[in-house]
Amino acid sequence: MTGGGDCPGLNAVIRAVTKTATRSFGDEVVGFMEGWQGVIERNFIDLTNYDTSGLIDQGGTILGTSRSSPGLYDGGLEKAKNSIEEMGLHALVVIGGDGTLRAAHELETLGGNVVGIPKTIDNDIAGTEYTFGFNTAVQIATDLIDRLRTTAESHNRVMVVEVMGRHVGHVATHAGIAGGAEVILIPEQPFDIEEVCERLRRRHATGRYSSIIVAAEGALPREGSVEFGEPERDMWGNVKIGGIGDLIGKSVEQHTGFESRVTVLGHVQRGGTPTAYDRVLCTRYGVAAVEAIHDREFGTMVALTGDTIARVRLNEVIDHEKPVSQRLYDVASHFFA
Ligand code: F6P
Repeated sequence: MTGGGDCPGLNAVIRAVTKTATRSFGDEVVGFMEGWQGVIERNFIDLTNYDTSGLIDQGGTILGTSRSSPGLYDGGLEKAKNSIEEMGLHALVVIGGDGTLRAAHELETLGGNVVGIPKTIDNDIAGTEYTFGFNTAVQIATDLIDRLRTTAESHNRVMVVEVMGRHVGHVATHAGIAGGAEVILIPEQPFDIEEVCERLRRRHATGRYSSIIVAAEGALPREGSVEFGEPERDMWGNVKIGGIGDLIGKSVEQHTGFESRVTVLGHVQRGGTPTAYDRVLCTRYGVAAVEAIHDREFGTMVALTGDTIARVRLNEVIDHEKPVSQRLYDVASHFFA
């Protein structure tokens, strides 16, 4: 099953799991539709070697996904466990981010055989160096920053680029470094808008009249620096983040008089074909998950550790944060205005 927000590489993982399981181990594979909802409602399709051919470069997920979780259903975890047992499944591969993996852990404590695969463009899952989808999102954001740079220069403008990342700023930091951003704002490093403006004034005083500010959608102004209204929520009750780019753009224009434009990259960061790096990572994760099942190492998540794919316990992953390291942010800040 694939749960939570989608990201490039989901289909590559589905392909790798299915082909490894069927071809190398002689297993049968089914795919639950639309995340936990499909597990609970037993909505599934058969997955074969043939069905999953040609998927390695396809964005999205052929299984669909949703932000549903067992906790949102009456007796949801029990129902999920019953689905697995009554359908005669030996294991459930849970491809998801923090929320999806938390539910996998809860299912495991009830006796469900689960193995997790870390997915999210946010790269905010502890225990692994990289989640799949992150590399592609960074590449997409970097390509777009490069394009914004040339139009910023033509018009002597400040371009504010809002990227995804509600609790952590991995995409903002990596794409910001790669795109040569003058300012990078992330949730881990609350910012003062006047300090940001002062940096831009200093840069513009040296004869450079355009700048790029990359802001994670969850970037936090220091208290009193910029005011937010009440957040909206989606149909599952999750807070809808966004809007910080607009606030920054308006404030920069008001404080400095520099003409500013705001681009919210949004879901384009999650769409389309995965990079070669992600395709390889997805393939390695898929193979490793099937191997973990055959070694009966349930309750684990496959994880990138240096050059190897390791197995980490799910309870060492969930509720553990993975912020952008101070070391990496310091590297980025050498290049700030
Ligand atoms: O969790 C991944 C993510 O892409 C976040 O970066 C972003 O805040 C969120 O999903 C957006 O969620 P949705 O697709 O539900 O709007």
